[in-house]
Amino acid sequence: MNFASVNGTIVPAEEARVSVLDNGFAFGDSVYEVMRTYAGLVFEPGRHFRRLRASAGRLGIEVSATDAELYGQVEALLARAGAGESYVRIIVSRGVGDCSYDFTRITGPTVVMIQKTLASPPTRHYEEGIRVAAVGVRRNHPRALDPAIKSSNLLNNILAVREAQARGCDEPLLLNHEGYLAEGASTNLFIVTEGTFLTPPLSAGILPGITRAVVIELLAGLGLPCHEKPLHLDTLLAADEAFVTSTTRELVPVRQVDDSPIGDGRPGPYTCRLMDAFHAYAPAHCGQAALTGAAIQSARTSG
Ligand code: PDD
Repeated sequence: MNFASVNGTIVPAEEARVSVLDNGFAFGDSVYEVMRTYAGLVFEPGRHFRRLRASAGRLGIEVSATDAELYGQVEALLARAGAGESYVRIIVSRGVGDCSYDFTRITGPTVVMIQKTLASPPTRHYEEGIRVAAVGVRRNHPRALDPAIKSSNLLNNILAVREAQARGCDEPLLLNHEGYLAEGASTNLFIVTEGTFLTPPLSAGILPGITRAVVIELLAGLGLPCHEKPLHLDTLLAADEAFVTSTTRELVPVRQVDDSPIGDGRPGPYTCRLMDAFHAYAPAHCGQAALTGAAIQSARTSG
């Protein structure tokens, strides 16, 4: 059974209720994080809470719970769920209002945590690589809805996924408003060209992915060159290797962009080396230690 908590009260997920007057429901006025466990412990909780606060802060949503309190709520949810690996989605909405832009009438925030059994992608995605679609939908313009805000308004992503699925692809790749590569619907992108790793910079209008940040740190530790720079689709098509990253999917090789194979159309040696490095890193950066280990903001945010 899957469980959810609403403002700290845990119930079976299908029984969890949020008001229809909640701004998250009525206006899409909320932010979220997707976390996962290794051996039952949450991966990099400190980094997730830091990004949650950054997203909420950009929208003026106050997250009054400390990191320790948020972590305690996640732990309680996981304890209720029992054994096995979990996916945990945290949603923080502005709170319950009256379907108006009168923010003074809102009581909040509403903090929802949803636990479900972690569903890993098929093994063939890792062994053979995935096919991505260079979709026509552009990533949100940073001056309209900054993709760095992990907002629950995911219509941009949904349009892109629908386009990719209609073309029989596993993940869309979105260009930004200037025509440079941005990211997937729920993944960041890396390219390998002649032993050098390339990834779009945050200024391309992307989510600052936690897996992306870890990969960049791992590359530095391995002494492998990595540059964050604006990339054209042509650079990807001419690359030796490519892979996408996310919390739930880790590193997934890209074998093909639409009908064009990347390199020899199989996961390349650099990608496989980083996948191994990530698999060694991830289980060692979970739980309480990873909450305090990262340079996180654990103090209460000010109003
Ligand atoms: N997706 N880009 C976008 C637009 C995302 O939504 C995500 C996360 C990522 C990867 O970020 P991270 O490595 O921190 O998971 C990149 C989560 C997993 C989701 O929405 O399911």
